[in-house]
Amino acid sequence: MLRMVTISPEDYGALEVMLSENRLLASDLEGDNKRFYAFEDESGWRMGVGGFEIYGTHALVRSLVVVEEYRQRGHGQEMVEQLIETVAALGVTRLYLFTEHAEKFFKKLGFAPAERGDAPEGIQSSYQFTTHCGDDATFMMAEIGEG
Ligand SMILES: CC(C)(COP(=O)(O)OP(=O)(O)OC[C@H]1O[C@@H](n2cnc3c(N)ncnc32)[C@H](O)[C@@H]1OP(=O)(O)O)[C@@H](O)C(=O)NCCC(=O)NCCS
Repeated sequence: MLRMVTISPEDYGALEVMLSENRLLASDLEGDNKRFYAFEDESGWRMGVGGFEIYGTHALVRSLVVVEEYRQRGHGQEMVEQLIETVAALGVTRLYLFTEHAEKFFKKLGFAPAERGDAPEGIQSSYQFTTHCGDDATFMMAEIGEG
């Protein structure tokens, strides 16, 4: 099982590099409602990163990356499951995300394409929603929090 470790803002440099290399949003990381995590194997080796932005009972999942050579082994799924467990414990009941290349991956994990216009106000105020994610990105939603 991967260990989920909070990345503190002073360590965002390595996170930014990983996000840029994967063409994901590498800015807009600061803010009390945003949390980012590293996922480490038993040797402390960073296998991936992921995070979320909380807007009341809704959250935007973002910045999910598995180091390229460790993909297709179930780490991505495990990371999403750990993120869901963490965010559900904070009172979130519904998750949203944007993805350009991983729609199939997220569908397997319970997300379904959603209408941007139906998104709650907080999610619609996010930088990804207002500015960063264009028509190439699929907007997706999942209900969580039933234990
Ligand atoms: C999307 C991403 C996080 C998935 O990570 P991953 O570790 O490869 O995810 P998993 O291994 O859990 O699942 C990926 C696939 O491998 C399959 N798989 C899982 N374990 C496997 C195993 N042991 N053997 C073979 N295949 C396996 C899964 O069924 C899944 O199949 P799919 O491609 O048909 O959905 C990763 O590809 C990535 O970092 N992409 C670049 C950044 C990105 O696009 N992030 C999403 C932004 S929102």
